[in-house]
Amino acid sequence: MRLNRSLLVGALSVTAVLATPAAALAAAPQSTPQAAPQAAPPSLYQSSPADSLRRLDHRSDLRIGTAVNTDALAADPAYARIAAQQFDAVTPENVMKWEVVEPTRGTYDWAAADRLVDVAHANKQRVRGHTLVWHSQLPAWLQATITSTTDAAGNQVDTSSLPASELKALLKKHVQDEVGHFKGRIWQWDVVNEALNEDGTPRQDIWYQAWGGTGYIADAFRWAHEADPKANLFYNDYNIEYTGPKSNAALALAQQLKAQHVPIDGVGFQTHLDTQYGFPDLQANLQRFADLKLFVAETEIDVRSTLPVTADVQAKQTSYWTQTLQACLAVRRCISYTVWGFGDAYSWVPGVFAGEGAANLYDEELAPKPQYTALQDVLRTTRAQRRVGSGGGWA
Ligand code: XIL
Repeated sequence: MRLNRSLLVGALSVTAVLATPAAALAAAPQSTPQAAPQAAPPSLYQSSPADSLRRLDHRSDLRIGTAVNTDALAADPAYARIAAQQFDAVTPENVMKWEVVEPTRGTYDWAAADRLVDVAHANKQRVRGHTLVWHSQLPAWLQATITSTTDAAGNQVDTSSLPASELKALLKKHVQDEVGHFKGRIWQWDVVNEALNEDGTPRQDIWYQAWGGTGYIADAFRWAHEADPKANLFYNDYNIEYTGPKSNAALALAQQLKAQHVPIDGVGFQTHLDTQYGFPDLQANLQRFADLKLFVAETEIDVRSTLPVTADVQAKQTSYWTQTLQACLAVRRCISYTVWGFGDAYSWVPGVFAGEGAANLYDEELAPKPQYTALQDVLRTTRAQRRVGSGGGWA
């Protein structure tokens, strides 16, 4: 088992941050949706350079994606150009999360997410929907009902004052309405996000409590499949890149869901890496999920380091980036590789991991870093060998 103590500490700090709504919200740069009708989005992708990531991977069936910050997309032309030219898939960094789409109970605001999907499709990009069932970034009206404690093992336990029957109805409506709203327009949905603790036990969030167990996971996949049978449905989590209790538990969960004929199509590995920890046995972990006949994806890649970055650390970051892409390319059922934003100025890392940053492919001025060139090199040398189809009704 390679899950060493320092990794665990890093992981727990992520858990703590994501489990703290105030902190998560404070870090959220883009929760104000745009209401006014918009002109047809410009199509920028035709001018993609031949050595762009999306064109270099053109002959393999791997999509190279990025998370998109919709505020930056609207305000920063250089950001919009890179997003369109370099990537052929996008994930909304925040605007499909429950807190954004239903800020007032019973009233939806899809404006920002609709706009993102329009821009993506104008640029011939597929969309990863993110995320339907999560313990974090819940709407304030729901978060206000939750009290958090910690159990003997140090894991967070969330309890809502709403009755279980009401929570179940709320989650069902949320999943059905959101997937239904975007029906036919989403390639992959992260249906359930981060349902496991670092020790492999199920996260005791309000959904676990309402169902009295993990039954909410199967229900959510079934509801999502009914609402959009063509979408590829994913379970998504972090630190499952490493072999250890958490990835073992995720594998057992995936096996159980398959055995119950739950419509799960894939598992997403967030891949938020930090050069102070060893590089994970990522390829082996992707492969053992792929062996279950699931698709796999790297869904939120970034590689952070303590600032300022020395030459040695820079080289280590570049090596980590190279290895993340090589791992995906080595696993036939790895169908998407998504970076969690591309410019250091827009990264979530400095706001969450004190003293750390430089986690992306482009610097603060949106100039490409050696990490970017390294990915080009990997794509040049390994493209054109793979063809497994990308699943669902998607060609
Ligand atoms: C992060 C966003 O990047 C931030 O802007 C926001 O404030 C908090 O959420 N795992 C996930 C992502 O699944 O949704 C998180 O995104 C990062 C960790």
